[in-house]
Amino acid sequence: MIRMGVIGCGYWGPNLIRNFVEIPTAAVVGVADLDQERLNHIQGCYPQITVTRDYRDLFRLGLDAIVIATPPATHFRLARDVLLHGLHLLVEKPLTLASRDAQELIDLAEEHDRILMVGHTYVYNPAVWALKEIIKSGEIGHIHYLDAVRVGLGLFQRDLNVVWDLAPHDISILLYVLGSDPIGVSARGIACVQHGVEDVAYVSLLFPNNVLAHIHLSWLDPCKVRRITAVGSRKMVVYDDVESLEKVKVYDKGVERPPYTNTFGDFQFAYRYGDITIPNIRFTEPLRVECNHFLECILTGKKPETDGYNGLRVLRIIEAAQKSLSNHGSQEQIICEVKRKVERAMA
Ligand SMILES: NC(=O)c1ccc[n+]([C@@H]2O[C@H](COP(=O)([O-])OP(=O)(O)OC[C@H]3O[C@@H](n4cnc5c(N)ncnc54)[C@H](O)[C@@H]3O)[C@@H](O)[C@H]2O)c1
Repeated sequence: MIRMGVIGCGYWGPNLIRNFVEIPTAAVVGVADLDQERLNHIQGCYPQITVTRDYRDLFRLGLDAIVIATPPATHFRLARDVLLHGLHLLVEKPLTLASRDAQELIDLAEEHDRILMVGHTYVYNPAVWALKEIIKSGEIGHIHYLDAVRVGLGLFQRDLNVVWDLAPHDISILLYVLGSDPIGVSARGIACVQHGVEDVAYVSLLFPNNVLAHIHLSWLDPCKVRRITAVGSRKMVVYDDVESLEKVKVYDKGVERPPYTNTFGDFQFAYRYGDITIPNIRFTEPLRVECNHFLECILTGKKPETDGYNGLRVLRIIEAAQKSLSNHGSQEQIICEVKRKVERAMA
């Protein structure tokens, strides 16, 4: 039985608590939050859990692991303390707000031989696995571009803009499905509601082999859209997370150029409208898959799919996007190479 503690039970924390409570190999022993009302709510749902306003009380409960679901600005300080107390750690996204802090957490986890995992939940989503499989199999041909849209009336954050809040989802999906890191990024955004906090942003990423990816992020849109389109040389695929059942559709659509043209009148493209296929996806709650994976990594010592290095790669892209956003869309290079402490020492 893995004894768990959770720090932060605001909006997202209760989902993590519910999942770990329902998994037979885990027991949620303690929950900490600064807000007594949130603790009362959790205590009402789960009377067996010890609740506290001081997260340091959790260190006296004989825990094996802690989950951090507090605002991103607090992640580094709390995560560092958890690792220094020798506990396994699952941190919500983004891992930290600075890559040097993320690196310090990775080093600490390695020194203490503890699991460090980041809550990039979409990587544990069966529909995203299907998207990756379709791209990897070559079914849609060579990828020309990907278009991601994550918009709606969002939960406005006071300190972090929409890129820090929402882009970790799409970036983690893109890294996972493409299996490579981007080489450059540019971003533009505007702050419509709160001064200085961009609530709408357009982020462009260039991946190797000239694969272009674009992410549209907004907390200020009338329609909730969570969609990624991948356009290949043979087919196109759409992953729509808002769809309840048919989340992934493969379109046998395309445009073919005739081999030669003599006049402008001859210059006609042949549009191909073929079948639309919908793979059958056995859907499980992604957060349940993520929580089970964290427990499995603790028990077996396996490296998490979204380990600290994965969190660091996502973070470096967001940092570069933020730099571009502040510089009116400047082109920023991304160096995603991540090295272990020993490799850095030898370099
Ligand atoms: N993976 C996902 O799909 C997903 C979805 C939503 C949010 N998140 C992430 O979850 C985290 C929390 O987001 P949220 O929307 O639940 O925020 P929230 O503001 O609703 O809740 C955060 C809670 O943390 C508490 N808190 C803050 N500092 C604390 C401290 N030092 N000790 C104890 N408690 C403290 C607050 O009182 C609050 O109740 C963020 O990192 C966010 O990015 C992830």
